Amino acid sequence: MKVTVVGAGAVGASCAEYIALKDFASEVVLLDIKEGYAEGKAMDLMQTASLNGFDTKITGSTNDYSKTANSHIAVITSGIPRKPGMTREELIGINAGIVKTVSSSLIEHSPDVILIVVSNPMDTMTYLVHKTTDLPKNKIIGMGGALDSARFKYRLAEAMDAPISDVDGMVIGGHSDTGMVPLTSHATRNSIRVSEFLNGDRLSQVADDTKVGGATLTKLLGTSAWYAPGAAVSALVQAIACDQKKMFPCSTMLEGEYGLDDICIGVPVILGKNGIERIVDIPLSNAEKNKMKESAEGVSKTNDLLTL
Ligand code: LAC
Repeated sequence: MKVTVVGAGAVGASCAEYIALKDFASEVVLLDIKEGYAEGKAMDLMQTASLNGFDTKITGSTNDYSKTANSHIAVITSGIPRKPGMTREELIGINAGIVKTVSSSLIEHSPDVILIVVSNPMDTMTYLVHKTTDLPKNKIIGMGGALDSARFKYRLAEAMDAPISDVDGMVIGGHSDTGMVPLTSHATRNSIRVSEFLNGDRLSQVADDTKVGGATLTKLLGTSAWYAPGAAVSALVQAIACDQKKMFPCSTMLEGEYGLDDICIGVPVILGKNGIERIVDIPLSNAEKNKMKESAEGVSKTNDLLTL
């Protein structure tokens, strides 16, 4: 199983590291445009192998896509990250060109690849890959919901003073400060609805903190986060590589599901060896349906900025 990670910045390198630590891939190729950078990160990571006990081979490449040939899965993290005060949508101008070039270069060398898009604004970048490549829709996956759900579980656990392993919950909708739809009515602590533990105000606070999860970190760090994004990507890669049939919210092209069409947005999907094996169309409350509709309108507005 060969995995390519394009972009050896903080998110790409964390992603490569978590994939290696889980030791399910034979090879991870890290690629970056900055001369020697991916090679350096790959070598540094390889020097952790004997300490951390993995056999995954990590190699680096400066923009030589022939090194990525025959990848089963490729992750696109390239582009600029946001700075404090910026929205993910403001990155579209630069990142759209980068994602277009990177996806076509990857497919040229790995025609059967499954692509995971991380670059922001992620839902729009996922849509762009759909519109500009011939990959089937099951092989184009946007990573946002897995990360947002992890942040939601963190906030729920914090609010309930519970261990995170007690908590389950999911965030659907667009991967943006205003577009996320944390499904508070479905979230549970050991199968008990979280509303048994938290009042309405506290639950709203959890949802609000979740939605600005990335912005909160960007403010603290001066750039966007990397550990949780890297871990979230590695969980998706593992689900596909190991044919786990796990369910995650991912950005995928909708054709009528959730009453939406011609849009990539976060909904629960089953991930297995074919990428997106199935979209899970769960019933939403009227309030959640309205939030999802508003979220989709926001994503569509950003999509309209693309020159396809
Ligand atoms: C974040 C970036 C990866 O939410 O979008 O941290």
